[in-house]
Amino acid sequence: MAIEHTFAMIKPDAVAAKHAGEIISMIEKNGFEILRMQKGQLSKEMAETFYNVHKDRPFFNELVEFVTSGPVIIMALEKEGAIKAWRDLMGATNPADAAEGTVRKKFGTSIGHNASHGSDAPETAGFELALFFGRPAEDQ
Ligand code: RTP
Ligand code: MG
Repeated sequence: MAIEHTFAMIKPDAVAAKHAGEIISMIEKNGFEILRMQKGQLSKEMAETFYNVHKDRPFFNELVEFVTSGPVIIMALEKEGAIKAWRDLMGATNPADAAEGTVRKKFGTSIGHNASHGSDAPETAGFELALFFGRPAEDQ
């Protein structure tokens, strides 16, 4: 499997609940290299660009409001097959459906407040890494 870079975010619910340390520890223990990491609060414009793919969904406004509601921690992660590996470690979108031991099972409280984000494909990883870190996926 090839080395990949992916974009990860610890969402406002998990940062506010002080779960960031434990989530970062899970990332390290699962063999990811954290190439970049930053804490900050997203502007409405940034959130709308980030979630542009969902702009026509009924929950779009709620999504933007939530992700801008407090500080997040963003990361560029490296690992063999990093994109799927981070999605697997996060678990299903709805914490109720997430497997035991996953980030969303442990720390998510609802489908909207699900503790973390991960890129879902190489194109998305490239877009998100460029959006947040200002350089292409391979240059993280
Ligand atoms: P993410 O982008 O945050 O990593 O989550 P995902 O790929 O697992 O899910 P996606 O389909 O991309 O949805 C983005 C976020 O929208 C919220 N959502 N709410 N109310 C709803 O029915 C609903 N459906 C999705 C979730 O918080 C999801 O993470
Ligand atoms: Mg998604």
